[in-house]
Formats: sequence, C-alpha cells, structure tokens
Amino acid sequence: MSVLEVRNLSKRFGSLIAVRDISLTVERGELRAVIGPNGAGKTTFFNLVSGFFAPSAGSILFDGRDITGLPAHRRVALGMTRTFQITEIFPELTVFENVRVAAEAAAGYRLRVWLNRAEAAELHRRVEATLALTALSAKADRLVGELAHGDQRAAEIAMALALRPHLLLLDEPTAGMGDQETYEVTQLIRRLHKDAKLTIVLIEHDMRVVFHLADRITVLDQGGFLAEGTPQEIAASEAVQTAYLGQAA
Ligand SMILES: Nc1ncnc2c1ncn2[C@@H]1O[C@H](COP(=O)(O)OP(=O)(O)O)[C@@H](O)[C@H]1O
Ligand SMILES: [Mg+2]
Repeated sequence: MSVLEVRNLSKRFGSLIAVRDISLTVERGELRAVIGPNGAGKTTFFNLVSGFFAPSAGSILFDGRDITGLPAHRRVALGMTRTFQITEIFPELTVFENVRVAAEAAAGYRLRVWLNRAEAAELHRRVEATLALTALSAKADRLVGELAHGDQRAAEIAMALALRPHLLLLDEPTAGMGDQETYEVTQLIRRLHKDAKLTIVLIEHDMRVVFHLADRITVLDQGGFLAEGTPQEIAASEAVQTAYLGQAA
C-alpha cells in the first residue's frame, strides 16, 4: 500500500489557482522530491497535504485512509509530520529540552505535570535516540538559539522526528545555507531515508541535493503537474529543462 496518495488536488486563492489538479503516489520507503520554479505551488501543496489548508478539490489518502477532511494535528497523530520552522523552536531552551517538548507532545504528556519513573525513562530514551539519529548528541545541552544554521535545521528535523512520523515532509531544508551546511543536512536526510527507513517528501531548490537524494522527482510548474520520473529521466526531460533547469543554470 502506498503511504501517500494525492488525487486531483487543487487549491484556489480567489482567482489564482495555486495548485491545479495534482495527483501523485508515494510508496513506503520512497524519497520523493518535489521541484519547480518559485511560485509553482510547492509549499501550497505541502500545506494541503499536512492539513494547514483545505483543498478546493481533490482528495488525500494516507496509509490508504482518506484524510482530506482531517485537521493538521490528527494527521500528525497518524504519523505525518512536516518540519517545524525555527520560529516554532524555543531558542532559549537547549536542544535536548526542545526535542523533549516534541516527544512529550507525541506521547500525550503535554498537559501532565508528573510522569512516573518508567514514562520519564522512556521519554529520555526517545529523546536521546532522536538526538543520535540527527547527530546532535554532543550538542544536547547547547541553547538552540546559539547553534549554527545547519545545526538549527537539524534541531527542527529532530523535533519533527520526536513526533514519531513515518512520513516526513521537508520544505526546502537547505534554504539559505552554505555548501558545508547543505552537505550536512543532505547527509542527515539520507540517513533518515536509508537507515531510519522513513518515507520522505522533500521540496528542494538545490538540484545537487535533489539528484543526490531522490528516488523519484515530481516537477510542478505554475501550479500544474509538469513531469515525474527518476532523476535521470527528469534530467533528460526537455519540458523540465525549458521550465526549470535551463532557467536555474
Ligand atoms: N495563503 C495564500 N494566499 C494567497 N495566495 C497564496 C497563498 N499561499 C501561496 N499563494 C500563492 O500561490 C502561488 C504558489 O505559491 P507557493 O505554493 O508558495 O509556491 P512555491 O512554494 O512553489 O514557491 C503563488 O502565486 C503564491 O503567491
Ligand atoms: Mg515554497
């Protein structure tokens, strides 16, 4: 069964059609990149999938279940998470504390004052495992606000992972980064895909990252579907080069 199946999804903002009749299927364990020029509708597409916006038309299935009408927090509870933005992180808390906040939320502990010893130990274990996966263990006690940009992005991803997703949505995780940080975030995403076996949908503008990571690529243009295929197929597609790759080069 596919993890994510989107059928004929559209989103209108007044007279603007930001997403136009998009269909796609993401299989378990796949890393799907979604690319396209600025304004192509990529972020709007994520907002529809994650439940931030209601679609104007179409449907969304997650693990075979129709979630089109579910609010965002119910989708998170079912195992779909998009990364937190840095603005949703507490810069004055440590990396460990931030990830613990997300892990508590996932465990339904947020409104509880006391955890019993077994619950507290399990929570601690989960936070440490998440920090290890995101290569943040050595920085667990650093304040998030003092981290380098790449480590802050890793902390955002760690918070998303603490919610225990099996589908992770990443919107331009290397935006604004230099080469070294882009490389580190790319390696992290690769580990999540190859080692942690997460299904990932990645919006990304950096073609080196996309071609390094993606199993398949979906190309959007002006809200519509332009192409889908393996990195090799997309690199060879004339329509894509005209709309996007040629422009970016
Ligand atoms: N909340 C919104 N209200 C109105 N228009 C929006 C909104 N969000 C996005 N848009 C418009 O939808 C189009 C697609 O935007 P977006 O999904 O952000 O593209 P991308 O992420 O591919 O750059 C753009 O024309 C943008 O201005
Ligand atoms: Mg965007």
